[in-house]
Amino acid sequence: MREDRSFPPSAAFAAQANATGQLYEDAQADPKRFWSDQAARLDWQTPFTEIVDWTDAPFAKWFVGGRLNVAYNCVDRHVESGHGDQVALIFEGEPGDRRDITYAQLQREVSQAANALTELGVVAGDRVAIYMPMIPEAVVAMLACARIGAPHSVVFAGFAAHALESRINDAQASVVITADGQHRRGSVMPLKPAVDEAVAKCPSVKSVLVVRRAGNDVAFDAERDVWWDDIVTRQPDIHTPESFDAEHPLFILYTSGTTGNPKGILHTCGGYLTQTSYTHNVVFDLKPDTDVYWCTADIGWITGHSYIVYGPLANRVTQVIYEGTPDTPTQDRWWDIIERHKVTILYTAPTAIRTFMKWGDHLPAGKDLTSLRLLGSVGEPINPEAWMWYRDVIGGGTCPIVDTWWQTETGAIMIAPLPGVTACKPGSAMGALPGIGAAVVDDHGTQLGNGHGGYLVLTQPWPSMLRGIWGDPQRYVDTYWSRWSHLYFAGDGAKLDDDGAIWLMGRVDDVMNISGHRISTTEVESALVAHPMIAEAAVVGANDDTTGQAIVAFVILRAGAEDGDGLAQALRAHVAHEIGPIAKPRQILVVPELPKTRSGKIMRRLLRDVAENRAMGDATTLADPTVMNLIASGLAHATPED
Ligand code: WTA
Repeated sequence: MREDRSFPPSAAFAAQANATGQLYEDAQADPKRFWSDQAARLDWQTPFTEIVDWTDAPFAKWFVGGRLNVAYNCVDRHVESGHGDQVALIFEGEPGDRRDITYAQLQREVSQAANALTELGVVAGDRVAIYMPMIPEAVVAMLACARIGAPHSVVFAGFAAHALESRINDAQASVVITADGQHRRGSVMPLKPAVDEAVAKCPSVKSVLVVRRAGNDVAFDAERDVWWDDIVTRQPDIHTPESFDAEHPLFILYTSGTTGNPKGILHTCGGYLTQTSYTHNVVFDLKPDTDVYWCTADIGWITGHSYIVYGPLANRVTQVIYEGTPDTPTQDRWWDIIERHKVTILYTAPTAIRTFMKWGDHLPAGKDLTSLRLLGSVGEPINPEAWMWYRDVIGGGTCPIVDTWWQTETGAIMIAPLPGVTACKPGSAMGALPGIGAAVVDDHGTQLGNGHGGYLVLTQPWPSMLRGIWGDPQRYVDTYWSRWSHLYFAGDGAKLDDDGAIWLMGRVDDVMNISGHRISTTEVESALVAHPMIAEAAVVGANDDTTGQAIVAFVILRAGAEDGDGLAQALRAHVAHEIGPIAKPRQILVVPELPKTRSGKIMRRLLRDVAENRAMGDATTLADPTVMNLIASGLAHATPED
């Protein structure tokens, strides 16, 4: 760890911040009282009688006996408190169409959708699958499900029919909500055909509710399919929300595990909404009357659930929702959106930031980004260079950056700086939030001190923790709670620096062992992208007869950089200089693209297959399946160094 830079909050930011250092003290002094105070952010129809019941660990119950309606908390109560005219969603479609939706309109639309689902026979407890583009109806659909107590299972609209089918079947959903198609990269990408193909093999599905978005022709089954415009629009726009138990299931979200079989992560109402609301308030410093917030995630991922729909709306946000890709029609679309809507808070992923670095500084420089006052990062470790670029080029050198570590399983942010309180080091998520217990342990589960690296664990239950894996309680216990008793194993490696700041080192399955030395893929990638010629890098540990594993690096050059003779040599020297000779890649391959999932995660598994000359494994979640052919043919011609 060679990061000495630290950026304390400005006095001006600290003076107006939602969070103060007192929060840490309060949480420390009386954790239960602390969480009960956070739960008071919500409107409970019936107050809870017990804060947490951990007697059946690792199955937790939070806010026992409490009853609430999540959709009421996200919509109706804001209308009742006089904010019906506040814009909730500023929607921008990729073709340029716009729609502002106020809280009063949202209340009417959610009520109509709830009435429509009821007419389709959905009752509390039934599962509803949602396979939709980033349009307001997606948010409305999720809230309508929450309103009637029907857990939703949102499946990312980039997944193919087969993935959709297995998720629908696992959850036994009775209704699927979708759209005819969506606008992506300047063209119409149909969605309904994938639903038709999937549902043909899903006997549980009784109805398919279809939003007309892209206008493409779709097949229509008169028995099963129904247009949103027919059934939702004719419903009464009043619906009385019923209260549900704090532990009533709110949603299932499938995420990949180490096996090919995705896990249905289950979240419930009271604890989840408490922690998403709390973290959204203190980590993003949300001011509901003045901020314009933009989280660029898709609702198909947990970030879209927790930081577009539930946390932000519970906090009465005004937020941007954008349907399309960042390069349509031009590579400055995001900066244009920020300028036009005067976005104040931006929450995005390191992979996006590095892509923008690659595209060039002139693009953000061409737009007025001075409305921004806080920047967030999520999804993978952010390398210090990307952090600094984000701060300087996007944030004008003044915005605090919150690097937020969490998982689908944790439901809400767990490790992050508090803006206005924490001095931030570029590349570190800093520390556990007030109320959260995190530690770094060794193979025996023994807690490590500053200056040491090991496994990241969570040491105490938290309100938005997963309540299990849908239909497979044993897999929940085995996956997360069996390595060390009483500790939740997150699957991530982490280091504590000399000041106790937490540095995430990537998944432990991405940690390489080179001649008995443990080196993180992230560390090497970070070193590579610190080189002025490199825009992006992915590193894998490939089997090696001599050293156990050897490092193979796949790199994308920055615009203007050339793949000349000395490049690989220079990069190896650079890595050796940054980390040590042991971290020098055996091979460095310049590639045009990296294999990424549609959520932007690099699929190292596939790169490992290529690096080890194996037949390529399952590539169905790749955003662009042709990428692997390019890489494989390139590698066949590359010669190992030295
Ligand atoms: C990684 C996304 C470093 C981590 C919210 C975790 C991060 C996995 C960060 C969960 C971060 C997420 N720094 N690594 N700030 N945020 N990760 O379920 O490996 O899609 O275990 O949830 O992403 O991914 P998931």
